[in-house]
Amino acid sequence: MTVTQAEIDKVVAESKRVLIGNHHSGISAWDGKLYECTYPSPTSYPFQWFWDSAFISIALLHVDPALAKREITCLLQGVQPDGFMPHMLLWEKSSYLHWLEDEYSIRLAHPFYTGTTQPPVVARAIERIYDATKDLAFLRETLEPTLRIFRWLKAVRDPDDDGLVCVIQPDETGLDASPKYDLAMGISHERPEEVLPQLTRSMHRLFKAYEGIGLQREPLLDVFNFEDVMFNAIYADGLRALARLCRIAGFPEGEAYECEQRYRRVRDALVAKCWDEEAGAFWDLSGLRTETPQKVLTFSIFFPIILPDLDRKIVRTLVERHLLNEKEFWLPYPIPTVAATEPSFDPAWKTNTTWRGPTWVNVNWYLYWGLRAHGRSDVASELAERTVRMMASSGIREFYDPLTGEGQGARDFGWSTLVLDLIAAERGSV
Ligand code: GLC
Repeated sequence: MTVTQAEIDKVVAESKRVLIGNHHSGISAWDGKLYECTYPSPTSYPFQWFWDSAFISIALLHVDPALAKREITCLLQGVQPDGFMPHMLLWEKSSYLHWLEDEYSIRLAHPFYTGTTQPPVVARAIERIYDATKDLAFLRETLEPTLRIFRWLKAVRDPDDDGLVCVIQPDETGLDASPKYDLAMGISHERPEEVLPQLTRSMHRLFKAYEGIGLQREPLLDVFNFEDVMFNAIYADGLRALARLCRIAGFPEGEAYECEQRYRRVRDALVAKCWDEEAGAFWDLSGLRTETPQKVLTFSIFFPIILPDLDRKIVRTLVERHLLNEKEFWLPYPIPTVAATEPSFDPAWKTNTTWRGPTWVNVNWYLYWGLRAHGRSDVASELAERTVRMMASSGIREFYDPLTGEGQGARDFGWSTLVLDLIAAERGSV
């Protein structure tokens, strides 16, 4: 497949329009804090989300690097003194109260932020912004709160001290309704229309169980405890980036050394505990005490390939056996969130819930760079081309049907503009 220049130009122009259109700034009723950030979507998601903002800042590098920096400095205002980072910051809360009332999965820890976290993509974003701008002042200012986030994850979310951090409800990975959580959440996918009501009931059950427990002790309750492969791969990659950035910023060597050691530990734990040689896949572990592998083929089986020194044999198995398998993941518009061979695969979005089949641009973006890091530029380029083609015909949507390329979910969706980074990388300008 080759894309035309006209298709590329269209996607670039549309992405820039979305990034500008979703930009918000002002003074919040939250202690008069100044905010300036890009919402995932002005209508469907009118707040600042943790991992969305990190992705969006990377896309912004291709529009205005100063805006990319301000996206991150605004975001890091949410980091708490102990390092807890909420997944949503409600800058313009009073304008969007109805949104919060309708959303079944929102639990606030404070009037202006949630009591849930999300994958720490922020370290990778800071690394990309620094590499593009060489702004040492920005680096020093953002490193300290980011190190705090990573320390909190270690202190609170690794209660069994095996190196892998856990999430305590599905939204914390950002993969809300992924079928890999179905067993733990008591969801059956036989009737698509039943998935969302079951999920809603389960979320309420979880939040009831956590009531009054306190963020520090929630993981110990073990009512939902997932050592998620994607979350941990992003966490490990963040530690790798932080070690490098601490040295560049001239932080004490001990800081960089600690991140490096922790990086190795997480990477090795992923291989030792989640890698299944026979299946050729990395599985999430469910249950603090049981750590039962959840053998559902979703895109997260691939995620450790974002780590540049992952064993080459493992990478080869993942790519040849699963990624390029046309019955599973190598569909016309890859990479589907769930393999086409899974009974829960829902490409046409019949369940009206997320992450159960459609293709998302943030996944393609991470795996694109992982493939390149492991010498598979051939597969990466094909993935980039198909992503651009899909977006040229369907616009900047939240996710896409992997069989037809049709756009689904929110319109003008923020992190889908990561396609700008894929286009620049293919041109050799990143
Ligand atoms: C959806 C996604 C989540 C994202 C949020 C805002 O809930 O599942 O990953 O952060 O929307 O875009």
